[in-house]
Amino acid sequence: MISIVLGTRPEIIKFSPVIRELEKKGIDFSIIHTGQHYSKEMDEVFFCELGLPEPKHNLRVGSAPHSVQIGNMLLRLDKVLKKEAPDLVMVLGDTNSTLAGALAASNLRIPVAYVESGLRSFDMDMQEERNRLLVTQCADLHFAPTETSKRNLLAEGVPEKNISVVGNTIVDACLQNLKLTEEKYRKELGGFVLMTAHRAENVDNRKRFSEIINGVNSIGARIVYPIHPRARKMLEKFKLDPGKIKLVEPMGYLEFLYHLSRARFVITDSGGVVEEATCLKIPSVCVRDSTDRPEAVEAGLCVMAGADSSAIKRYGKRISEDETFRDGMKSGENPYGDGKAARRVVDALQSRL
Ligand code: UD1
Ligand code: UDP
Repeated sequence: MISIVLGTRPEIIKFSPVIRELEKKGIDFSIIHTGQHYSKEMDEVFFCELGLPEPKHNLRVGSAPHSVQIGNMLLRLDKVLKKEAPDLVMVLGDTNSTLAGALAASNLRIPVAYVESGLRSFDMDMQEERNRLLVTQCADLHFAPTETSKRNLLAEGVPEKNISVVGNTIVDACLQNLKLTEEKYRKELGGFVLMTAHRAENVDNRKRFSEIINGVNSIGARIVYPIHPRARKMLEKFKLDPGKIKLVEPMGYLEFLYHLSRARFVITDSGGVVEEATCLKIPSVCVRDSTDRPEAVEAGLCVMAGADSSAIKRYGKRISEDETFRDGMKSGENPYGDGKAARRVVDALQSRL
């Protein structure tokens, strides 16, 4: 039996194709939700839309400083994993839930399969980078999305026999759901730029958040920003004026994909959104100083602007106004796989169990 430990929006979305594949193959599994994300629009909406089974356990840890949150998860996971006694625990990504799931399993000597293993930003100021490095140490099986991520793992001494390059399950999710979005959302959309920004290093820092907002406003385009609860809280705390940016509630997955697929381009600090945009050949402007998605940048579909208002304006205007530049970006190849990552993960697990 496999236990899947997850806790946040991107983990639910990226695990969804794996869960579908496990169901298709009749493999016994259960979902343990840490409760890191709990608002309906960050959690329940994805289970409903993606037709996922309800978590067997919800640990309801909620929000707290990193160590407290991870500590609470560990306490509760230890109990639940002892009771469930799975043959294997599967985690994905780089969140506090990912780390707690891997560490709790490893402490009980339960094998750990790590999906989306090997991403690195080489920026230890990011909680996510520290989480990834630690999860890598706990994992027995590594599902790397690309050859670059495999190389990162090899450089850290992970044995090659424990690594499979499978692609990123976000491509599976994106392709599987795109058709559904077309059926569900028939309203004409276009002529707008989509924006998401939620990373702690951006929105918890007044200067960086206001640089991003000023840069985005200076592009002179219609901007739609489904705002993450963390970002909304900080925007209010810092009393920042969003200007012409249209703030909307976080969207469900189908609505978000529909918007992304119709956007002129996207401005984002999200890893998952850069991957999806790359898959859909929508140019992205990444508002971060480092990237853990170098493949998207190398493919030409993503440019790095940092939290620098003039760089955001420059790139934004160029993508909007310079057709040759925009078409050049759109001609990049998707490096994140063929949409069969989940099948490869489940095939590998099946032969292991
Ligand atoms: C977490 C991940 C981040 C990931 C993001 C996906 C870590 C360290 N960070 O960041 O890597 O990109 O999820 O979205 O694990 N909040 C709500 N409702 C919720 C969840 C959060 O209102 O359902 C608010 C709370 O005020 C909370 C804040 O958002 O304090 C931050 O939540 P948290 O889970 O700590 O981190 P994220 O910023 O969501
Ligand atoms: N997403 C969504 N609704 C939104 C914003 C994002 O469904 O309003 C999805 C998006 O399609 C992607 C995932 O959330 O699959 C990315 O999660 P997030 O940006 O929260 O985290 P990150 O990928 O940066 O860890």
